[in-house]
Amino acid sequence: MENANATSPSDFPEVPDLHWSSAMELDDERMDQTHHEMVDMVSRLRALPHDQQLESYRELLRHTVEHFAQEERWMIATGFNADNCHASHHETILDTMRQVETHFLQGDEAIIDRMGAALAEWLPTHALTMDAGLALHMKNVKFDSRTETLEDPSLVKPATMSGCGSVSCS
Ligand SMILES: [Fe+2]
Ligand SMILES: [Fe+2]
Repeated sequence: MENANATSPSDFPEVPDLHWSSAMELDDERMDQTHHEMVDMVSRLRALPHDQQLESYRELLRHTVEHFAQEERWMIATGFNADNCHASHHETILDTMRQVETHFLQGDEAIIDRMGAALAEWLPTHALTMDAGLALHMKNVKFDSRTETLEDPSLVKPATMSGCGSVSCS
C-alpha cells in the first residue's frame, strides 16, 4: 500500500478525510474550538503533496503542543496529578509527532502523510473518550475554561486524581 516515491496526497484513501461535525462537540467552547482547529489543520495537511507538507506539519505540531498544554493546565486546576494517564497519552503522541519530523527530514517523504492519516483516526477517538471525560469533570467541579477559574474552589481537591475523569485509561 505504501509508496515512498508518491508525491500525491492519496496514499491512505482508506482513512477518510476528517471533517468537523457536531458529533465531536463536548460542550466546552474552548476545547471544541481547539479540536475544530486541529481537524482543519489535519485535513489541510493531508491534501498537500508530500514535498509541501513540512511547514504545515510544523504548524500542526506547534498547535498540538498548545492544545495539550491547555488541557493539562485545566487538569491541574481541577484536581489532577500532573502525572496522570491523559497527560501521559498526550506526551506519547507528541513524542511520535516529533520523531515523524525527524524521519521526514532524513528522507522518509511519506511519513507525514502516514501521521496525518493516523491523527485523522486518533483525534475523534481521543476527543470522545479522554477529552470528554475531562470536559465532564470540569463541568462537575464548575471550572470555567474561558476564564480558567473555579466558581467554588472547595469542589476541587488538588492533585488527587490520576485517572481520566469519567473514562477508563485503558
Ligand atoms: Fe483535546
Ligand atoms: Fe486530550
